[in-house]
Amino acid sequence: MALREIIILPDKRLRLVSEPVAAVDAEIRRLVEDMFETMYDAPGVGLAAIQVAVPKRIITADIAKKDEPKRPQVFINPEILWTSEDRASYEEGCLSIPDYYEEVERPAAVKVRYTDLAGETREVEANGMLATVLQHEIDHLNGVLFIDHLSRLKRDRVIKKFAKAAKREEKD
Ligand code: NI
Repeated sequence: MALREIIILPDKRLRLVSEPVAAVDAEIRRLVEDMFETMYDAPGVGLAAIQVAVPKRIITADIAKKDEPKRPQVFINPEILWTSEDRASYEEGCLSIPDYYEEVERPAAVKVRYTDLAGETREVEANGMLATVLQHEIDHLNGVLFIDHLSRLKRDRVIKKFAKAAKREEKD
């Protein structure tokens, strides 16, 4: 296993649409292991492969609380089949937009079809935090960030702040 570098806003690769995984082979399994190591190290509750600069449709997640045993979950080629009309609001953050949190309203429940690490097709109906994490991470696979769900004013302010920080780093 290896830690991978998480790419940060305004890295343009965060806007890529990720490619479907053709087969769950050794390379994909290694990538998934690295994603878990990187996600737990950060720490975060969800990670999309593009956040470690790999444009493949893979998500790792673990929504277990700190005092609970780990509950790693992998979703390969996830597809939203259904979303509830009920909506729920959660404070979201993103490992690619460090130290920024905002309330985002999304459907409260979703049904997702995905492939597991054994290559089997599965379906999950999620609500609560997992529903939010799945939608947030599936957005990543389509080049969408949680700040895209905020008002233009808030979004522009964050983008500007991170663009400035990136420029400062270039100079140093
Ligand atoms: Ni994110």
